[in-house]
Amino acid sequence: MDLIATDIADIGIIEPLWQKLHEHNSALHKKYFGRELKETWTRKNREFVARAQECRTKFHVVKSDDWVVGYCVSAINKYGQGEIVSIYVLPEFRGKGIGTRLMDEHLRWLRENQVTSIFLFVHPCNIDAIRFYWRFSFFASGPLMELCKVKDS
Ligand SMILES: CC(C)(COP(=O)(O)OP(=O)(O)OC[C@H]1O[C@@H](n2cnc3c(N)ncnc32)[C@H](O)[C@@H]1OP(=O)(O)O)[C@@H](O)C(=O)NCCC(=O)NCCS
Repeated sequence: MDLIATDIADIGIIEPLWQKLHEHNSALHKKYFGRELKETWTRKNREFVARAQECRTKFHVVKSDDWVVGYCVSAINKYGQGEIVSIYVLPEFRGKGIGTRLMDEHLRWLRENQVTSIFLFVHPCNIDAIRFYWRFSFFASGPLMELCKVKDS
């Protein structure tokens, strides 16, 4: 399994994986908050590219027989804060240490660049991912509450 440093200009290669991550998060959101998440790859793609213009970013894909089976994007913002922006491993490749390799690589890069803090966003109902992040000593740093119904309908 190869960990390949990739230019953010090639972010399009993770679209199928991001779609699965989105379905995963959206299903959780629907279960607990009664509605699916509204997000599209077109918007997300733009967001990745815009972030790369504002921040220093690192992007790795993991390939198995030339297939992309996992990825991780991290960034350092203008305040010197590090962020694990997105991480995903295809279900059939989980539990083989790929997620850990990606996290180790990206946390090492962030620390080497002397970030002042390292944060990430995770859906509060994504318990499996939260457990995964605990292993790297991430803990919830505060309650962020979101209004489920923005429009009064
Ligand atoms: C979180 C994720 C990236 C971990 O990738 P992975 O390749 O399976 O991670 P590893 O194989 O390195 O697992 C490390 C440990 O965490 C555990 N673990 C990882 N994902 C787990 C899961 N979904 N459920 C239970 N345990 C999990 C593994 O069992 C392993 O424990 P072990 O070392 O005792 O065997 C992967 O599960 C994933 O893509 N999840 C869905 C997407 C997601 O939620 N991403 C985070 C969005 S914020």
